[in-house]
Amino acid sequence: MTKEIFKVYNEVFDNRTLKVLEKMRSENYEELESCISTGKEANVFRATTKNGFVAVKIFRMYTSSFDKMSDYILGDPRFSHVSKKKHEIVYLWAKKEFRNLSKAFEARVRVPKPLACNKNVLIMEFIGDNGMASPLLKDVNLENPQKYYNEIIENMKKLFKANLIHADLSEFNILHYKNKPVFIDMGQSVLREHPNSMNFLKKDIYNVNRFFSRKCKTITFEEFMKKIEK
Ligand SMILES: Nc1ncnc2c1ncn2[C@@H]1O[C@H](COP(=O)(O)OP(=O)(O)O)[C@@H](O)[C@H]1O
Ligand SMILES: [Mg+2]
Repeated sequence: MTKEIFKVYNEVFDNRTLKVLEKMRSENYEELESCISTGKEANVFRATTKNGFVAVKIFRMYTSSFDKMSDYILGDPRFSHVSKKKHEIVYLWAKKEFRNLSKAFEARVRVPKPLACNKNVLIMEFIGDNGMASPLLKDVNLENPQKYYNEIIENMKKLFKANLIHADLSEFNILHYKNKPVFIDMGQSVLREHPNSMNFLKKDIYNVNRFFSRKCKTITFEEFMKKIEK
């Protein structure tokens, strides 16, 4: 193992995380197989269970952006009694993504089905075909952008009805699966009660419109809001 790989490995698989994985392995899945993504806060892996593939998102304990995490968490009434310890904040962040995904999934928003969450490890449905993770929206050529745009609005509406705002929605957090959008990455999603929720929603709408304005006819912010609130 080269020094650099070893450094990355240690950042993801610290002792705490290894223990959690060991425990989850005996309950939920066999082995982590391949790394799908290395992001700012988390690494996502594919793993196999007896029922097929799952995606395992491991939030790094020591190198994630805690300032951003605490900003979102401190405004959320669901987490008002929060310790400021780093590892506690990371655990909470994973739990928050798990809860947000569960809420969205129940509301029939197209999201990966959340399966388990233990400390900094989140296991969810693997979105892809034959073990190949689906591409991000930013990397696909859409056959029918207008229809796709409307489907994204429909999912945002369902999410809003479930009292949630994604808060980091863009072509970077939408997977393209079976010709339809799947929303991912909901750690930062907030309830409508959150003091900044409307600004987050505005940004989500702005991002979606920016991406689609080059591809199809888009609606104004006001029309967008009307559709979501209907
Ligand atoms: N359930 C999933 N199935 C397949 N691929 C996934 C899944 N969840 C995430 N990914 C892949 O991992 C990447 C990072 O996941 P994401 O939740 O966006 O974390 P972050 O952006 O914080 O690193 C995604 O861009 C996507 O390529
Ligand atoms: Mg992401």
